[in-house]
Amino acid sequence: MPAPFKCFTRVILISLLALVSAAHAEVRQTSVWWLPRNVNMFGHEIDFIFYLILWLTGVTAVAVFSVMIYFLVKYRARPGIPAIHSHGNNALEVIWTTIPVFIFLALAIYGNEQWTQMRLRTPPADALPVAVVGEQFGWNVRYPGPDGKLGKMVASKVAKDNPFGIDPADPEGLDDFTTYNDIVFPLNRPVRLYLGSKDVIHAFYVPEFRLYQDMVPGRVYDFVWLKAEATGNFQLACNQLCGQGHYKMFGKLSVVEEADYQTWVKSKTPAPTASVEKSNPVPVSLVKK
Ligand code: CUA
Repeated sequence: MPAPFKCFTRVILISLLALVSAAHAEVRQTSVWWLPRNVNMFGHEIDFIFYLILWLTGVTAVAVFSVMIYFLVKYRARPGIPAIHSHGNNALEVIWTTIPVFIFLALAIYGNEQWTQMRLRTPPADALPVAVVGEQFGWNVRYPGPDGKLGKMVASKVAKDNPFGIDPADPEGLDDFTTYNDIVFPLNRPVRLYLGSKDVIHAFYVPEFRLYQDMVPGRVYDFVWLKAEATGNFQLACNQLCGQGHYKMFGKLSVVEEADYQTWVKSKTPAPTASVEKSNPVPVSLVKK
């Protein structure tokens, strides 16, 4: 083999090896060839409409192709048999136009209703607020401290050193804690997300939650919420091509029992040393300088 070809073959082989090892790094634990399992409260309706459409179109496709193949054979050109001229059948045309109209209308109404439930219904008041801000190439995550409230995110204040766009004097943000590429959600508790971006368009995408939301810089998305119904380890993968490091923009996401979640929160928050006064609910030791 001439030298340039040898070199080219080697490059191809090495790229293939890299692809194979990347495929092995995939954390998805369940079905790789079909839908991953659903662990979000809203996922049942999404899966239902997916399977409904799959069955409707599947059965229709089989029926249409069967009739088509039957007619192709039955009415094939044969010597001595003249062709039949058909001008259609109005009754049949009306029937097979009306039925799909009602099917499409029903799907649209049902889909719209589910979308409203998912995105436009106000999240429950007791939902855990969690802020996730994408950047090239990772996830900034912010959790509320002991007061249970997140500092207010202001899109116009998002900056390189302030990914969440939070006023440093905001009392509700003083006790918050942050992580990087590390998200833990408690089981069976609604979580309200506050999504944003520091630089370019990223997307919050967790297939097991049936949840996808683009994050456009200059906006804070506060209408996305979920409720995890099973524990497990998942991957928060960015789903918008956001630059050279897009492929490695993924975070660890786990759903754990409430008690384990509390333990995790404790491990992230510094133990308060100063006594907490009623007038000042935020321990002085937690005030970020
Ligand atoms: Cu962020 Cu792709």
